[in-house]
Amino acid sequence: MDGNGRWAKQRGWPRLVGHRKGAERVKEITRACPDFGVKYLTVYAFSTENWKRSTEEVLGLMALFARYIQREADVLSAEGVRMRFIGDRGPLDPKLVRLMEGIEARTASNTRLNLTVAINYGGRDELRRAAIRLAQSAVAGHLDPAAMTEAELSANLDTADLPDPDLVIRTSGETRTSNFLPWQAAYSEYEFTPVLWPDFTPAKLAEILGGFGGRDRRFGGVKP
Ligand code: FPP
Repeated sequence: MDGNGRWAKQRGWPRLVGHRKGAERVKEITRACPDFGVKYLTVYAFSTENWKRSTEEVLGLMALFARYIQREADVLSAEGVRMRFIGDRGPLDPKLVRLMEGIEARTASNTRLNLTVAINYGGRDELRRAAIRLAQSAVAGHLDPAAMTEAELSANLDTADLPDPDLVIRTSGETRTSNFLPWQAAYSEYEFTPVLWPDFTPAKLAEILGGFGGRDRRFGGVKP
């Protein structure tokens, strides 16, 4: 969800106004996904590198996440959305973590849409945390390191219960993946759009999904 800062700057507004508009877009896109047949939506809200931003921006974003959870809880529950979070919760404010755990528990049996929000998420950090767990398991004698499978590694990632993404969309014209699901997106399709996230509408998503439907995915194989 890149481009919130530039969207605000273009209008002479503080960056946080762009993030607030971005949060509105999250709501709209979440609502539109089931109509488009999308069952899993993962949004990258805060990376392990985003702590480098000003204290004002970091605290503003954290407050925005808390407000989103509090205000959207009833709507998400009523609309059958299961909400989950990926990322390292350790450095987050315990009050925010309690809200996150609360909405995860409250929406756990919903199945219409799986919404996952990445907060303090970094793909390398996720792999590091998985490596620690697997190494501990090996030391304890529960795992033969030489026989470790890809499935075992996947099962130790934050996304253990989620399918790999079919399509990764990055807004704002940047053509980087920025530490987003590096293991899981190994065979994902990518779409880089110049649209800034606060301008990203359900109509734009529909257009991208239309293009995605026509792509030839071979997963390393050859078409019969
Ligand atoms: C990147 O744009 C965006 C972020 C670091 C924050 C994304 C957060 C939201 C959209 C807020 C709401 C999220 C939820 C789940 C309620 P940028 O600030 O790097 O933009 P720039 O590159 O133009 O400066």
